[in-house]
Amino acid sequence: MELNLLTLCYLIASVTFILGLKMLSNPASARKGNLVAAFGMTVAIFGTIFLFEDNGEKLHNYIWIFAGLLIGTVAGTLSAKKVKMTAMPEMVSLFNGMGGACAALISAAEFYHIYKLHEASPETPFAELATVGHYITIVAGAIIGTISYTGSIIAWGKLNGKVKDFSFKGQHIVNMIVLVLVIATAVWVYQSNIGSMYIPFLLIGFFAFIYGILFVMPIGGADMPVVISLLNSFTGVAAACGGFLYDNKAMLTGGILVGAAGTLLTILMCKAMNRSLTNVLIGSFGGGNKATVEGGPAKAQGNYKEISLADAAMVMGYATKVMIVPGYGLAVAQAQHICHELEKILTEKGVEVNYAIHPVAGRMPGHMNVLLAEADVSYDKLMEMENANDEFKTTDVVLILGANDVVNPAAKNDPASPIYGMPILEVEQAKTVIVNKRSMKPGYAGIENDLFFQPKTSMLFGDAKKVLQDLCAEVKAI
Ligand code: TAP
Repeated sequence: MELNLLTLCYLIASVTFILGLKMLSNPASARKGNLVAAFGMTVAIFGTIFLFEDNGEKLHNYIWIFAGLLIGTVAGTLSAKKVKMTAMPEMVSLFNGMGGACAALISAAEFYHIYKLHEASPETPFAELATVGHYITIVAGAIIGTISYTGSIIAWGKLNGKVKDFSFKGQHIVNMIVLVLVIATAVWVYQSNIGSMYIPFLLIGFFAFIYGILFVMPIGGADMPVVISLLNSFTGVAAACGGFLYDNKAMLTGGILVGAAGTLLTILMCKAMNRSLTNVLIGSFGGGNKATVEGGPAKAQGNYKEISLADAAMVMGYATKVMIVPGYGLAVAQAQHICHELEKILTEKGVEVNYAIHPVAGRMPGHMNVLLAEADVSYDKLMEMENANDEFKTTDVVLILGANDVVNPAAKNDPASPIYGMPILEVEQAKTVIVNKRSMKPGYAGIENDLFFQPKTSMLFGDAKKVLQDLCAEVKAI
């Protein structure tokens, strides 16, 4: 009876994961989707704690379980409440790393069970205590989970600027050697049948730990979105291994969904960057050839011209069609609400206003969609890159708010540029381009932007929030 109830809990969890994921694909239902999936996860967790039985024995170490739950809940809730919108990608990366570490620890605990059996009867060959399939699942969970953990921690450091890109000559060969060492140690542990295998098992984890660091360290600049979604899929696959080990359907479904969603996102991100995955992983895209990664001023490329607030308001107020290009700076300034306000004021004056959304604008997939949804910007007003690029030809004014790399023409024109090949928003097709940022400093990829020096571009310097507040007042006064 209780086992049936537990199966029902897992069924509810699996269904809510699928429904939640579906709802997450639309900004209007995303918040509800998150809650639906979280409800399913709660059912699965408490179902397991109170209903799970192994050979008629229930779980008993409740103090450990609830202490862990309490610490995790408090830490998770506080950090999620405190996190700034701009630090969201870092937090997602950190949480993803924690998921990978959990999956790896599940594998370590399972291996420990087999190790104990082997210790009790050393004459029994290891292969009789664990089938190849069982062992591969344990080791795959340990390796993939550990790589996801260290890789995500490095990605977290890179996103918040604490870890700098690092590569050396022949690094790809070193990476390959470490990966071969991971697999070779795993095979050796299974075949050697030596007395104490726990230490060699930890060696697999150690090599995987090093590989995770080495594999993310050289990838930088504009390629981080691809790596982050790839690491997400790793965590999903590692969790699915845990689901296999425990024959836990909810964990299996959850892991497979995360793994599949992460893989699809990786493919989409590669498409958005016009790159193959191999190229991202071994090409160090955005790694070398940086002008000013540390954020110093970019080399002057000629003269740029500035526009006053009054003139910018005039040009937009009398335009027929305005396209807003949001970027990371809009999130930094938290100017999404005032941006929506400007959109409404212009619309009241008869101007058609839309938003051009680049798939990797900001610092996480869908960053601009989430940001604008927070300010209740209508989803119909958001144009995907391909549609926006068709629209620019008939646009009077493009207003760029804290975007840089995603409008950099070097991606199209300069084969030497580290972002060459990445599709961009082709804003220079519009009649006038107004760029709002605080200085001439480069964006995430650390490279100069020729757009700022083109004749139809005017710079409107200042913090996006302040500039938009002033612009609203000026446009109203027209
Ligand atoms: P960026 O190229 O990073 O440019 C953002 C610009 O915003 C900066 O040049 C900065 O110039 C300006 N800015 C910062 N704070 C501002 C403020 N308060 N007010 C006004 N402007 C401000 O952004 P993007 O065009 O959105 O491109 C995203 C980049 O991040 C791409 O290279 C992408 O590959 C990478 N990336 C994306 C993701 C995902 S998944 N989206 C993940 C990791 C990395 P000033 O300092 O002069 O103001």
